[in-house]
Amino acid sequence: MWWIFAALIGGSCLSVLLPAFAGGAWSPTKAEVMHSMLERARLMPGETLWDLGAGDGRFLVAALQRGAMVVGVEIDPVRWFICCLRCRGFKGQARVVRGNMFNISLEEADVVTFYLSQAAADRLRDKLEQELKQGARVVSYRRPIPGWRSSQIDEQNRVFVYVIGEHDPGETRECLE
Ligand SMILES: C[S@@+](CC[C@H](N)C(=O)[O-])C[C@H]1O[C@@H](n2cnc3c(N)ncnc32)[C@H](O)[C@@H]1O
Repeated sequence: MWWIFAALIGGSCLSVLLPAFAGGAWSPTKAEVMHSMLERARLMPGETLWDLGAGDGRFLVAALQRGAMVVGVEIDPVRWFICCLRCRGFKGQARVVRGNMFNISLEEADVVTFYLSQAAADRLRDKLEQELKQGARVVSYRRPIPGWRSSQIDEQNRVFVYVIGEHDPGETRECLE
C-alpha cells in the first residue's frame, strides 16, 4: 500500500517542481485576461495560435471556441493529459504536444501566447526572434519581454502584445497604438 502513496507524492512533487524549474509553475489565467489576450492577438481565419505552457488547456479551449486552430505545449504529463481531454471535442483544430517548449520549433506559429515566469520570458526572447515569421504576434500575460517594444499594453490585466518585425525599438521609432 505504501508504494501507492509514494507514487502519488512523487508524482505530485514532479508535477510542481518540474514546471517551476522549466519555465513557471501552473496557475490558471483568469477569464477576463484570456478574453483580453485573445482580442489583442487578432487571429485571422486559418491562423494558428500556440500556447506555450498550456496547463490544463483552458486558454486553448477559449481560443478554440473562437474558431482558432491551436497548438498547446505542456511539459507536465498530468496537465498535458487533462489538456488533451479538454481539447478532444475539437478534432482537426487542436494539437497538444507533451514536451519542453525550448526544444520545439515555433516556425509554424502565427500567434504565440504564454503565462510563464519572467526568467522563461527572458529566455524565450531569442527563440521567438529567430523562429517566428514577420507579422507573428506574441501575447504575454504579466511578463514583458525585455528590450522589445509593445504594440499594445492592457495595463489593467497586464497583457503585453508584440508584433515580430515591429518589436525592435532600434528598427521602429514610433509606438503603434
Ligand atoms: C502559469 S501556467 C499557464 C497555463 C495556461 N497557459 C493558462 O493560461 O491557463 C504555466 C504552465 O507552463 C508549463 N510549463 C512550464 N515550463 C514549461 C516548459 N519549459 N515547456 C512547456 N511547458 C512549460 C507549466 O507546467 C504550467 O502548466
